[in-house]
Order: sequence, then structure tokens, then C-alpha cells
Amino acid sequence: MNILNTMLQRKTYNGSAGEVAEADLRMILECALAAPDHKRMRRTHYLVCQPEKKATLAEHILHATYGNDYSPEQAQGVMKKLSFAPLIIIVSIDCSPQDRVPYDELILAAGAGIQNLIIAAEALDYQTSWKTGAWAYNAQVHERLGLLGSSKIAGIIGVGRGEATNEALPPTDRPSFADNLRLLT
Ligand SMILES: Cc1cc2nc3c(=O)[nH]c(=O)nc-3n(C[C@H](O)[C@H](O)[C@H](O)COP(=O)(O)O)c2cc1C
Repeated sequence: MNILNTMLQRKTYNGSAGEVAEADLRMILECALAAPDHKRMRRTHYLVCQPEKKATLAEHILHATYGNDYSPEQAQGVMKKLSFAPLIIIVSIDCSPQDRVPYDELILAAGAGIQNLIIAAEALDYQTSWKTGAWAYNAQVHERLGLLGSSKIAGIIGVGRGEATNEALPPTDRPSFADNLRLLT
């Protein structure tokens, strides 16, 4: 599929299975790192959680959320949530003070990295989903994952292969030219 169709057919896909080949993962991450980044601040970081590390990730989230005292049901709930994709990439931004570019641009650069990551994965016939939610904003989760105190999580990105291809899934509603586009007159 060409890259334009890849972008047009992309849609959030949860519950995908399959493995992400190592060479594909490398290419996906190289594409992420090739995203525009004003003044090459290099503040976006990618933490890769392979399928066999899901339990470790769950443990970090459980400790961060409930302390040492969590129930088997809570543990099950977190594992279930993490089953949205076999491979998870946590994308964070080091927001420690700097004045070379406006702060918002560090966030935008992370978004550009994530979008490159998603397009690359979809171009390689994987499906993806971009999550944030409470875990992304939990300072304890950041600490347990070894992120700097000044970090933000921009996305918890799932990559995998679903049973249905994007083409076979129901079409997604897109914003219209009429509502979201204007020609300068
Ligand atoms: C910054 C950001 C955060 C998001 N967080 C979540 C999330 O926490 N949970 C979720 O289900 N989807 C999340 N999404 C995905 C959007 O909900 C999804 O892209 C939107 O529903 C449009 O669907 P589509 O991706 O199929 O076009 C997020 C997307 C962005 C850009």
C-alpha cells in the first residue's frame, strides 16, 4: 500500500495480536526519530515494552497506583488494559527547563515523533493505537518507569496486527473540508 493510502486508512485499533518483528521495530523507531524537532532538542524518548515485559509494566503501574497492596482483581484489570496491543511504546518528553524553543514545541515535536511512528508501523502493515489516560499523568508511574521528574508522557502507543485489516473495518468519520479548512481570501 502506498504511504498516502496508509495514512488515509489508518484508524485506532485495539486488541491486536501478533508480534512485531525486530527489524520492523527498528525501522519504526528510526522513522519516529526522523520527525521534525525544532533546534534538534532531542527531548522525546521512546520506552519499548516487548510482550514478555507486560507483567513488569503492569507491576510498575500497580505499585504506582495502589502501593504494595493491590488485589488480584486490580492486577487482572491492569493486565487486561495492557492487552490492547502486543507491543507498547511509551513516548515521553523531557520538559526540564530550557529556553531555546517555546515549551509547547517540545510537546509538538513529541507528537510529530509519535505520528511518524504510527505511519511507519501502519506502512509495515501493523495496526496502532495512541493512548494516554490516568497512567500517563501519574507521577508515580513516571518515577517507576525511570523518567525524569520533569517528564510528561505524550502517548502510550500500541502496535500489533489485528484479525481484520484496516480496509475491512468500518470507515472512520473524518473531519470535513467544510468545517476544518478555510482558504485565505
Ligand atoms: C494526544 C492523544 C491522546 C489520546 N488518548 C487516547 C486514550 O487515552 N484512549 C483512547 O482510547 N484513545 C486515545 N487517543 C486516540 C483517539 O481517541 C483516536 O485517534 C480518535 O478517536 C480518532 O479515531 P481514529 O484514530 O480511529 O481516527 C488519543 C489520541 C491523541 C492524539
